[in-house]
Amino acid sequence: MILKPIEFVKDKVIILDQTKLPQKVVFLKLGNYEDVVRAIKEMKIRGAPAIGVTAAYGIALGAQKIITKNKDDFHSQLNHILSTFQATRPTAVNLFRAVNRMKQIAQRNTDIDLIKTALQAEARRIHREEETASEALSQIGSQLVENGFTILTHCNTGSLATASYGTALGIIKAAWKQGKKINVIATETRPLLQGARLTTWELIQEGIPATLIVDSAAGYLMSQGKVNCVILGADRIAANGDVANKIGTYTLAVLATENGIPFYVAAPTSTIDLSIASGDEIPIEERDFKEVTHIEDKPIAPEGVKTANPAFDITPHLYITAIITEKGIVTEPYEFKLRKLVEEVT
Ligand code: MRU
Repeated sequence: MILKPIEFVKDKVIILDQTKLPQKVVFLKLGNYEDVVRAIKEMKIRGAPAIGVTAAYGIALGAQKIITKNKDDFHSQLNHILSTFQATRPTAVNLFRAVNRMKQIAQRNTDIDLIKTALQAEARRIHREEETASEALSQIGSQLVENGFTILTHCNTGSLATASYGTALGIIKAAWKQGKKINVIATETRPLLQGARLTTWELIQEGIPATLIVDSAAGYLMSQGKVNCVILGADRIAANGDVANKIGTYTLAVLATENGIPFYVAAPTSTIDLSIASGDEIPIEERDFKEVTHIEDKPIAPEGVKTANPAFDITPHLYITAIITEKGIVTEPYEFKLRKLVEEVT
């Protein structure tokens, strides 16, 4: 099945509303940039590469709707749109990369109509590049998956999260398509349950055997020899190889290391941020307390209880067996090898 979670058709950004899955498949037709901004903030669309692609389309849409012939006025309205998208989610670097690319396109052209056309073309290019990268890294990463493996994955890293083939889930899909008999253990991924709601849904669509577990069951299953490797995604990778990813990733990395299980991170090079020396500098999004105290709209904790809700954590590079990208598989020393890889790309 080819899933298209994001499309730009005429004057609409069309997204598959991930908050309704798996109960309902609902596509939203977003006709102005403010709706696209809201969709990203409310995680109707989420996942690092998908956020970048959606923001790029949202910026192109916003620019298309600006009605002025005055260049200064146009640029001031466009700058407001760019900074609004930039403020949607702080951790995934794909968003900032996409916004910067759109900004540069606007600065490079002078004619307003040309800028509008060029922004649309750039957004489509960003989308195509993510597609190409995810297909390539999925094929490359599938070499690490042996016939008979059980792979533990966290959060959702498939078509929904990437607007293309997927990263960690792309590798799993590629290995399955090669005829390898594999099993997947998907963590539920509290608080928003991307694993339970989205990953198992995608795996079922593909016919790949999947077992859903609560997050806290991962260590026990690892200790029982039930996991051959862990593969998951990333929202930002620092120059030294430290990885920001969905909350719980660090716990899984420590458990995998303790149990001698390979721990792989799969991400396109668009997720690598060489301007950040280590994970300490990656901003971690803190989300609404209601995600912790409620499941959907149902309260599960006493009213007024104190909460903490970091959406991501940092996994130090020492716990990472390898980082899988569209340009190849990188191992320690990450500092040198990641820079070489990214500089080869650009
Ligand atoms: O908060 P989310 O759902 O946007 O977080 C998503 C993740 O952490 C994914 O693992 C990451 O973006 C990689 S997706 C290919």
